[in-house]
Amino acid sequence: GVKIVTIGGGSSYTPELMEGFIKRYDQLPIREFWLVDIEDGKEKMDIVAAMAQRMWDASPYDVKVHTTLDRREALKNADFVTTQFRVGLLPARIKDERIPLSYGMAGQETNGAGGIFKALRTIPVILDIVEDMKELCPDAWLVNFTNPSGMVTEAVLKYGNWKKVAGLCNVPVNAMIKEPATIGKEEDDLVYKFGGVNHFHWHRVWDKEGDEVTDQIIDAMFDEDVDSGIPANIFDIEFYKEQLKEAGVIPCGYHRYYYREEEMLNHLLEEYASEEGTRAEQVKKTEDELFELYKDPNLDHKPEQLAKRGGAHYSDAACETIAALYSDSGKHIVLTTMNNGAIKELPDDVAVEVSTHVGKDGPVNVECFELPKAERGWLQVMKAMEQCTEEAAVTGDYGKLLTAFVINPLIPSGDKAKRVCDELLIAHEKYLPKF
Ligand code: NAD
Ligand code: G6P
Ligand code: MN
Repeated sequence: GVKIVTIGGGSSYTPELMEGFIKRYDQLPIREFWLVDIEDGKEKMDIVAAMAQRMWDASPYDVKVHTTLDRREALKNADFVTTQFRVGLLPARIKDERIPLSYGMAGQETNGAGGIFKALRTIPVILDIVEDMKELCPDAWLVNFTNPSGMVTEAVLKYGNWKKVAGLCNVPVNAMIKEPATIGKEEDDLVYKFGGVNHFHWHRVWDKEGDEVTDQIIDAMFDEDVDSGIPANIFDIEFYKEQLKEAGVIPCGYHRYYYREEEMLNHLLEEYASEEGTRAEQVKKTEDELFELYKDPNLDHKPEQLAKRGGAHYSDAACETIAALYSDSGKHIVLTTMNNGAIKELPDDVAVEVSTHVGKDGPVNVECFELPKAERGWLQVMKAMEQCTEEAAVTGDYGKLLTAFVINPLIPSGDKAKRVCDELLIAHEKYLPKF
């Protein structure tokens, strides 16, 4: 039997993860499941663990859900470790959003100054986890969902020197679920190819005869009432059709922050000034509702309300990846992984988010299409920004951090940027390396 450990077990996504594993039990016979959290998350973990146990008890399978605050106890002889933690919980995210917005800059979980600071808080923790894994479960795979998923996964590969890691995101999953219907097809009728970095990738699509349907999908995106699978947390402003047609590649939902920067910033500023507050404040309400539901001793399946969270379908990505690694299925899964030549426009030894086929030796990258000029330029800037951020996280070098701020396209460089940076350093001091 397989031992799975989930770090950040108190996450409201845990029931979705359970659902995913229950669905795939035939492929992946789990023996025990360990949820790990910290003191601050203990209450949430206890509630969600009881809910998770009820889900297994309602299934035909005999699986025990354990909880612990001792990560090392859980990691011992683990086969797969999944990470879904949030350093500082939602109050830290509220600061990542509100502080930049108070200076008129985008404040968002994985983009701009907030994304940089989430990386700074998270990378030291994930590197500690990797050190524990080297000792306690050296053969295990690490499946990372913790944001910013691309940078966190790259830090594991480069600074943790841990190769058995795959970074996850639900954005490609959502696109592959929703887009086919926009052109009257089903998921299995189409062949997808993705390339870029997390929350900054493009894709192209072909039918089974090898004819490209990318352009048809782009046309369909601009029809009224079409659902292309944009996550619930992203304001759904339209792209410019002429721009997408010219590029011939489909951007991801997050490209809106860059291609329609002005309107997206205005939207964030409106939320910031409104009663409902920024996304993290909205999410806090959803999370409270979810945990009230999870407390119900009769609830033994994932509630509908979880779909209000932007990460819906994450379990499909996580469980598919683990099932593919275990059963050597070779399934197509979009993952953050070492480039190794898949994207010609980036060095081999950086992390990218690309189409892969996953088998027992890990993901094998699918060679990406050649990127159009503009996308190549964007991607190279974003990758450099990510690398500067990761270097800042592992060195505590203030110059490197400022460099990440200066190169980040959503941060207008200058004195205001430096003030935002300094205020965030103070606000998050408790979770940061010494700068
Ligand atoms: P959350 O605020 O509920 O945090 C999850 C748990 O992590 C909490 O119970 C918290 O106590 C725990 N935690 C914090 N620090 C920890 C540590 N050092 N060790 C162990 N546990 C710790 O978060 P959430 O909203 O469920 O999101 C979880 C993570 O998943 C976040 O990083 C979020 O950004 C990420 N996420 C990723 C995607 C994606 O597409 N990759 C989608 C949605 C969410
Ligand atoms: C999206 C992304 C995640 C992101 C999340 C936010 O789909 O892929 O990486 O962090 O959803 O969702 P939330 O509900 O927390 O705002
Ligand atoms: Mn994501």
